[in-house]
Amino acid sequence: MKKVLAGLVVAVALVTPRLAQAEKLVIACGSVGQEQEVCKQGAEAWAKKTGHTVQVMSVPTDAGQQLAQFQQLLAAGSSDLDVVRIDVIWPGIVANHFIDLKPHFPEDVLKQHFQPIVKNNTVNGKLIAIPWFTDAGLLYYRKDLLEKHGQKPPTTWQELAQVAKVVMDAEKKAGNDKLVGYVFQGKSYEGLTCNALEWVDSFGGGTIVDSNGQVTINNPKAVEAIDFFASLVGNVVPKGVLSYEEEGARGAFQSGNAVFMRNWPYAWSLANAKDSPISGKVGVMALPKGGAEGKSTGTLGGWQLGVSKYSKHPELAVDLVKYLTGPEEQKRRALVGSFNPTLTSLYKDEELLKANPFISSLYETFTNAVPRPSITGTKYNQVSTEFRNGVYATLSGKGKAADNLKKVEAKLKSLGKNGKW
Ligand code: GLC
Repeated sequence: MKKVLAGLVVAVALVTPRLAQAEKLVIACGSVGQEQEVCKQGAEAWAKKTGHTVQVMSVPTDAGQQLAQFQQLLAAGSSDLDVVRIDVIWPGIVANHFIDLKPHFPEDVLKQHFQPIVKNNTVNGKLIAIPWFTDAGLLYYRKDLLEKHGQKPPTTWQELAQVAKVVMDAEKKAGNDKLVGYVFQGKSYEGLTCNALEWVDSFGGGTIVDSNGQVTINNPKAVEAIDFFASLVGNVVPKGVLSYEEEGARGAFQSGNAVFMRNWPYAWSLANAKDSPISGKVGVMALPKGGAEGKSTGTLGGWQLGVSKYSKHPELAVDLVKYLTGPEEQKRRALVGSFNPTLTSLYKDEELLKANPFISSLYETFTNAVPRPSITGTKYNQVSTEFRNGVYATLSGKGKAADNLKKVEAKLKSLGKNGKW
C-alpha cells in the first residue's frame, strides 16, 4: 500500500510539476495615472486564485523609455520578466522576444477581441500578445466654463483656439489668471508623435508614411497643421506644455486650470474621481477637425500582454495573461480606470456604458483611429523620433514647419530603402 501511495505522489508531481509549488511571476504593466495600481489589483486577484505571487515591475511613464528598458532586459535574455505590456506600435520591434500565444488561445477566444488589434499583434504568423486595452486621443473640456461663458464645444481646432481665448479672457477679468486654454502632450517623446499625427491627419495631411511606403509628411496641409499649433504656443497653449507627458496635461486640467485637454480615455475616471476638483464638470468628445474641410481623428494607441521567451514559467505566465485579458478583468479595469476594453461584447454592457459614456458615443473614434506608420517595422522608433523632433522644433520656435518637415522627409527617406518603405 505504501508503495502504491508513494508511486501516486511521484506520478502527480510529474504531471503537475509547476503547480506543485508556489511560484513568483513578474509583470511590467505601465505607470501612467492609476495604471500600476489597477494592474496590481488584477494580478493579485489571479495570484489569490492560483496560489502563486506576482510582482509588478516599475517602469518609466514615457513609452519610449519603457521600450528601451525592455529591449535591454530582453536582449540580455533575462528571465527577470515574465509578462510584458506591449504598445500597439511595438510588435514589429520586439516580436522575436515573445512566445507564440496561438497554441494557448483558441480561435473563439481571439474572435471576441477587436480583429485589427489581433492582426496587429501577429508578426510573421506568430501571435505575440493578447489585446488588453485600446486607446484613441480624445478631447476633454470644461462643460461648466463653456456654459458659463456662452460657448459651445468646438468642432474645429480653429474654433477651439477661439473658445479657449474667450473663456480665458473672461475668467482673467474676473480675477482667475491661472487658467490656460489647451493642454496636450508636448514633450519630445512618443506622446507628441501621437498628438502631431492627429493634427496632421485632421488637416488632411496624411499619416507621415502612407500604406504604400511613401514618405508623405512634407505636404502643404501637414505644414499648415504644425504651424497652426506652433502659433498657439505662448497664447492659448502655455509654454510649459512642451515638457508635458500625459500626466502633466492631466495635472493642469484636473486642478481646474485648463479649459481643454487632449488625453487618452484613462483620464476620464481620474477627472471624475470623488477627490477631483472638476468631478462632474467634464465633457469628452472626439478631437476637432482641422478646419471645415478637415476631419475628426484620433491616434490609435493601446496595449497588449505578451509572455517573454526567457520566462522560467511560461505556462503560468500564459495563465496570468488569460486572466488579465479576460472579460471579468477587462470590465473591472474599464469601470475603475476607464481603460477601453478590446472585447467587443463589453461595448454593450449597460453598467460600463453608464460609467464611461464615450464607450458608445465615441465608438467610431476608437474603431476608425489613425494608426502610426507601422509599415516602418523595426525602424518605427527612429521614424517617430525624427518626426516629433521636427514638430518639437517648430513648436518651440526653432524654424517654420515648411523647413522642418522638409528635413524630416529627407531623414525618413534615408532611413528607408531607396527613399521608400
Ligand atoms: C498611450 C497609448 C500608447 C502610446 C502612448 C504615448 O499609452 O496607448 O499607444 O504610445 O500613450 O505616450
